[in-house]
Amino acid sequence: MYSEKVMDHFSAPRNVGEIENADGVGEVGNAVCGDIMKIFLKIENGVIVDVKFKTFGCGAAIATSSMATEMIKGKKIEEALELTNKAVVEALDGLPPAKIHCSVLAEEAVKSAIADYYDKNGIEHNINIGCDCNCEGCHKHDH
Ligand code: FES
Repeated sequence: MYSEKVMDHFSAPRNVGEIENADGVGEVGNAVCGDIMKIFLKIENGVIVDVKFKTFGCGAAIATSSMATEMIKGKKIEEALELTNKAVVEALDGLPPAKIHCSVLAEEAVKSAIADYYDKNGIEHNINIGCDCNCEGCHKHDH
């Protein structure tokens, strides 16, 4: 039921760990299952030169974070902000419907780490952390 790519990123996740003196740190929790994810960014001249993550989450959360870190590494901040959980899921060749909410964690963690970077540097932003998908799980974020 999981694609080969999901199994690959789950069993050998990329970019696991922490970055000391990270330029941006984002920590988010999943309202549906209570899992937690933390993402660390190293940013130079507006480019994400390094990224690491730690998660207390399920296999799908690990696989999506691993893929998400690969997708934003070397990218400009603005490009990383456009990363959606849907794009990550597509890059993994899909997730079972019941696990889509897990992929939201990675997108939110990236956004919250970038928001932290902007806050630390006094840059105004209107980053909206939250999922706009319509799944039942994500609706619970409102409550
Ligand atoms: Fe919690 Fe997947 S079940 S992130």
